Amino acid sequence: MIIAIDGPAASGKSTTAKGVSRILRIPYLDTGSMYRAITHIVITKNIDITQPVELKILLSDIQIRFEIVNGENCIFINNENVSSLIRSTEVTLFVSAVSAIPEIRKSMVELQRAIGKENGCVIEGRDIGTVVFPNADYKFFLVADVKVRAERRLVDLEKLGETKSLDDLMFEIEKRDLLDSSREHSPLRQAKDAIEIDTSLLSISEQIEKIVKHITNKE
Ligand code: CDP
Repeated sequence: MIIAIDGPAASGKSTTAKGVSRILRIPYLDTGSMYRAITHIVITKNIDITQPVELKILLSDIQIRFEIVNGENCIFINNENVSSLIRSTEVTLFVSAVSAIPEIRKSMVELQRAIGKENGCVIEGRDIGTVVFPNADYKFFLVADVKVRAERRLVDLEKLGETKSLDDLMFEIEKRDLLDSSREHSPLRQAKDAIEIDTSLLSISEQIEKIVKHITNKE
């Protein structure tokens, strides 16, 4: 079974998708972490993404895999566990530019389809219901007020030891949404047949429950 969960930045996709995956016992796939991992490599190796030759070498040279470490679903790129590093502000500010590149998207989408088809998955991102799995069994699109999203992200960042003002975070989130929804290839867009869920006033367990109920009532 493929359950697609899309939505703008910090709309609660990851927490919701992880919860749905746990309850329904279907593997979880966070596609944003894949674009973040590539962005981490682009930054650390100082790769010029406007140069086709450098892009080609980058894509022929990377291996992405997921592994559970201490109960957490971790992402490895070229055998390095980058799960925490990819949440840095530096990666967050640059990821939209990297993920707009068609060659990078093509390579990631191939990998996402291969992983997803293996055992089914709860897969979250921006283009899952529109491009990666347009025939997904279920499609959800999560939205939330930008202030609520910034407040939630602030809590995430505090856990990582980072401090930031709410205004700066709201600005960053809106900027990233604009870049993601206005890019030419696979922009952030709600699939016509996706169910929209506004999570602004919902708790995590309510969000998860809404999706699980929808799926189990239909089976
Ligand atoms: O968790 P958060 O909402 O901050 O974002 P994410 O899901 O980790 O995604 C990070 C970035 O990756 C997004 O801002 C998009 O630029 C890109 N992305 C994408 O282009 N396509 C996807 N399927 C998932 C993420």
